[in-house]
Amino acid sequence: MPEAVIGVIGGSGLYQMEGMSEVEEIQVETPFGAPSDVITVGKVEGVPMAFLPRHGRGHRLSPSEVPVRANIWALKSLGVQYVVSVSAVGSLREDYAPRDLVIPDQLFDRTKSRVNSFFEGGIVVHCPFADPFCPDLSTLLLQSAQELGDVTVHEGGTYVCMEGPLFSTKAESNTNRKLGFDLIGMTALPEAKLAREAELCYGMIACVTDYDCWHDTHDAVTVEMVVANLSANVANAQRILRAVAQKVAFGREDAACQCGTALSSAIMTDPSR
Ligand code: ADE
Repeated sequence: MPEAVIGVIGGSGLYQMEGMSEVEEIQVETPFGAPSDVITVGKVEGVPMAFLPRHGRGHRLSPSEVPVRANIWALKSLGVQYVVSVSAVGSLREDYAPRDLVIPDQLFDRTKSRVNSFFEGGIVVHCPFADPFCPDLSTLLLQSAQELGDVTVHEGGTYVCMEGPLFSTKAESNTNRKLGFDLIGMTALPEAKLAREAELCYGMIACVTDYDCWHDTHDAVTVEMVVANLSANVANAQRILRAVAQKVAFGREDAACQCGTALSSAIMTDPSR
């Protein structure tokens, strides 16, 4: 099986990675069934990368149906250490405008019906999750975006993850703003939690596609809006991924983050009893 150091999970509007060489499509089976789609493994700037479309090609899976455990397991089984999520998000603040990019630093879980741990059936694990995004990977994403020079990128923000699949009501959108959330989406969780349990570094390029439905002078979010604005940013996301791939080419042996040892003091279950 080919190996990859960096895995990209593409959201709505990003179904393949341009500019890959030595491309192979792999059907990975996991204890949690099949991932969202075949995984494309190839080289980007000479660095082995795996690409997985979160909703499947043709966008067949709703946010609640994404087989997140299989997706994370499959990427881990390919040797991936860094997972970059490219995600469409709605903005809950004026200064994060449609077509801007954001590298978020916090998550708030409003999902309702998703399995959010690998551990069950007699093994109890409580992983640290105070900082849900890998700080090292997030810094690399931010620097790489800034180095492009022609992209508006914002540092930090709290992404609230709703269940969906319907978009928010105005009452929910305004409440989310009052609570201090900056971005809204439907897919960062449990993806980030499972990446942490799998001891992977996880970071996000959030592509702002709309102002949700709170903004008085902008139309409320529609699927058309999300796809059009994300498509406009896909090329930028791919430029960032090319730069980041080069920066993580040698893996994370010298990394300062704790992502690679997240389980070391998290397991509660006594194996001798
Ligand atoms: N993804 C993109 N825009 C969104 C929004 N306004 N709400 C939830 N998920 C989104």
